[in-house]
This record gives sequence, C-alpha cells and structure tokens, in this order.
Amino acid sequence: MNIELRQISKLYGETQALRKLDLIVTDSVNVLVLIGPSGGGKSTLMRLLGGLESPDSGDLFFNKQHLLQSETVLLQHRRQNGYLFQSFNLFPHLTALENVELPLIKVHGKKPAEARSLSLTALSRFQLDDHADKYPAQLSGGQQQRVAIARAIAIKPRLLLLDEPTSALDPEMTAEVLAVIESLTQSGQQIILSTHEMGFARAVADKVVFLADGKLIEEGPPSALFEQAENKQVQSFFSKVMRY
Ligand SMILES: Nc1ncnc2c1ncn2[C@@H]1O[C@H](COP(=O)(O)OP(=O)(O)O)[C@@H](O)[C@H]1O
Ligand SMILES: [Mg+2]
Repeated sequence: MNIELRQISKLYGETQALRKLDLIVTDSVNVLVLIGPSGGGKSTLMRLLGGLESPDSGDLFFNKQHLLQSETVLLQHRRQNGYLFQSFNLFPHLTALENVELPLIKVHGKKPAEARSLSLTALSRFQLDDHADKYPAQLSGGQQQRVAIARAIAIKPRLLLLDEPTSALDPEMTAEVLAVIESLTQSGQQIILSTHEMGFARAVADKVVFLADGKLIEEGPPSALFEQAENKQVQSFFSKVMRY
C-alpha cells in the first residue's frame, strides 16, 4: 500500500483525536500495524485511512490518489475496503450467510446468486461452512468474528482494516481469529490492523506505528520498534504491556 498523510488533524468537539499527523507508507508494506495506549488515535486514523470520515485539516493520499479532493473519490475508496471492528457487528436477526450476503447486495450491487456464491466461498475459506445457517447468538465469539472477517473479505477488498479485532475475545478465540488474520497476510491481502496483541503485531507487521495523544511517536519495522525503541514513552509502554 502507498499512503501519504500530511499534517492530518481530527477533532471531536473539544477532543483533538489526531494532531498534525505526518505518515508515509511505501509500496513494500503489505501489513501496517497501529499500536499505542487507548485514546491515542488508532481508531480515528483507521477511519480516516478507510475513507469513513474526513479530517478537519491536512492531506491524505492513498496509492497516490488525493482522497479528499471530492466526496465521490472518498466514497469510491471507502467501497473498495473491508472493515472489521472490535465488537461483533453482525446483525442478530440474520444468519451468518445472510450477514455476509447483505452488504454484497445492498452496498456493492451484486445479484443475489453471485452474492450467495461469493459469501459461501468466503465462509468456506474460514471453515465456517457448517455455520452458514446459524444466527450470531448460536456462534461463539471467535466464530462470530470469523464470520465478520468473511464478510469483510467477500468483496475482495483492496485494503482490509481491522480495528482491535480480538480485544473482546478470550485467549482461545483470540488465537483462532489471529490464525485467520495471519492466513490473510500470507495470501498477500493488504491489511491495516490496530491491536494490543504485541507478539502478533511483531510477527505479521511490515511496519509498525506507535500513536499516543493523537501524535505519531515512533515508527519503523517491527524488529526496530520492539527491540530498540528510541522514544521513552514507547519503551515505557512496552515495559508495561510485555512485563507478564
Ligand atoms: N466519535 C467520537 N466522538 C468523540 N470523541 C471521540 C470519538 N472518536 C474518538 N474520540 C476521542 O478521540 C481520541 C482518540 O480516540 P481513538 O481514535 O478511539 O483512540 P484509540 O483507538 O487509540 O483508543 C480519544 O480521546 C477519544 O475519546
Ligand atoms: Mg480504538
């Protein structure tokens, strides 16, 4: 992926979620991981990168395209991406299969037969064939998140945005969902991931960005960031989250 952010700021009322953020991500990066303390701006940055929201100021380029030039361009960008957020976003009154099909039909204009076939392929990819006709309440948290990932990739997104996809899961389900994400990275899927799973971040990231207080504090390849962080705030974060 190729990203260029210049002086991006985003405010929510009085809260400055991002403060004049600059970021360059080059084509060699397939998996970008955002880490840092809660409230640091990770989710805000992901929403901006996905085209779900616009910044208050600054410039944003994805694959050299100036995304903020018009609503149309931003909308086109948004539609090419797949999203998954922390809490389970499945519709409770729809089966797993219907949950995957719905956006294909409603958002992407697929015909029902094609939507069904794409959905079954996506579910099958994550060993969810036997669960296609179950409702979310009949599935474990890990299975629900796998259905949500199937839904996000069913459109074959250019970019998959995963915002703390395992933070509501117990360890076993976390492992199950991380395995699915790892398989996606191995297939070459471009991913932006925010996570508190430091071991996983280190294993899959091509580039890691540490955000705190709406600012980019440090960035680099995982080996550099995890082993030789230069910034005191980053070192202190690691010493806390990796102590036990
Ligand atoms: N929709 C929103 N409305 C009001 N404040 C928000 C909203 N989204 C984020 N914020 C605030 O912006 C800051 C950054 O939040 P966020 O991007 O969610 O950080 P992170 O994902 O790193 O925890 C926080 O202070 C948060 O409370
Ligand atoms: Mg967040």
